[in-house]
Amino acid sequence: MKYAKIIGVGHYVPDNVVTNHDLVKMMDTSDEWIQERSGIIERRWIKEPYEQSTAHMGFEAAKMAIQRAGITNDEIELIVFATLSSDYYFPGPGVKIQQLLGIGNVGAIDVRAQCSGFIYAISVADQFVRTGMYKTVLVVGSETHSIGLDKTTRGRTTAVLFGDGAGAVVLRASETPGVGILSTHLHSQGEHAEKLFLKAPGTGRDGIIYPGIEQDVDNIYPVMDGQFVFKNAVVRMEEAVKEALNANGYKVSDLDMVLAHQANLRISQFVQRKLGLPDDKMYSNIQKYGNTTSATLPILMSELWEQGKITEGKLYALVAFGSGFTWASALIKW
Ligand code: COA
Repeated sequence: MKYAKIIGVGHYVPDNVVTNHDLVKMMDTSDEWIQERSGIIERRWIKEPYEQSTAHMGFEAAKMAIQRAGITNDEIELIVFATLSSDYYFPGPGVKIQQLLGIGNVGAIDVRAQCSGFIYAISVADQFVRTGMYKTVLVVGSETHSIGLDKTTRGRTTAVLFGDGAGAVVLRASETPGVGILSTHLHSQGEHAEKLFLKAPGTGRDGIIYPGIEQDVDNIYPVMDGQFVFKNAVVRMEEAVKEALNANGYKVSDLDMVLAHQANLRISQFVQRKLGLPDDKMYSNIQKYGNTTSATLPILMSELWEQGKITEGKLYALVAFGSGFTWASALIKW
């Protein structure tokens, strides 16, 4: 059997930094409230006039991952793209990345699993590599949240949490047993779909208000039951890390690091405590980027790789939880 090894990681965030103090000018909030509840200090939001998009940011991250992998674009045999903020309602951004990379007419799969999207996407890619169907697969997670948020006081509970950005990895088939993606574990619970959801994004995005029809902001902006999401996230994320370890005969103490989805610093700290992990085994970058949904894990991975904290032979658990509810984990021997 083949294993999918990550041979390149990359990320991209827009230049435009939006601090908590900038948000105070848009809505009734404070730097203190945001930092205390979420740990976020600033985030990146694409700037008007919008020249960037989910696909374009994904393309930038993909270029970096491909370059670091030391391969050429045309070695990619499949694209798997995770996002909840597609450039168009359809088609998804997977095809735009195929075009931007200028590669042949390879398959492009779009994955919609929100904050768990990146783990779902590498799980999809992993299956193609394991079966031997494809040798080299590009996996991208990218989000443009900023144009879909209610940036008034009414939307403050969600608007302060989310940021824009993209990350990507290149997976390559390896014959070495026990190296690469060891397993992935996917879950969902649709009964809680409405605890964090967006009913109808189209009109909100374009700012269209139909004459005579009252615009219902509950339909066009994300709606979230924050505390319910929080409580479920901490339980499911701990569960999912343990599930991945059990499936491979490892213990928490065998892990070199947990790469956790960055939804809220307090969620990560809770999970860290429940797993009994020391500080150097769980990093956070939510302070700089907020929650970038499907882009979060590859951005974190790329930054840790740049800092020399992700190296050959080490054991990493990826874990995420989000809207759906969906949650997922992956165990990776680098
Ligand atoms: N600035 C200032 N005050 C705010 C605010 C903001 N941005 N957003 C909400 N508030 C107010 C509320 O209106 C409320 O006021 P009230 O007590 O007068 O009614 C008060 O702050 C407390 O709100 P509450 O929602 O109870 O806060 P919380 O402690 O639950 O924190 C979240 C809110 C969203 C930060 C927290 O619930 C959370 O992080 N949940 C998980 C969200 C998440 O991870 N989502 C993505 C999943 S992948």
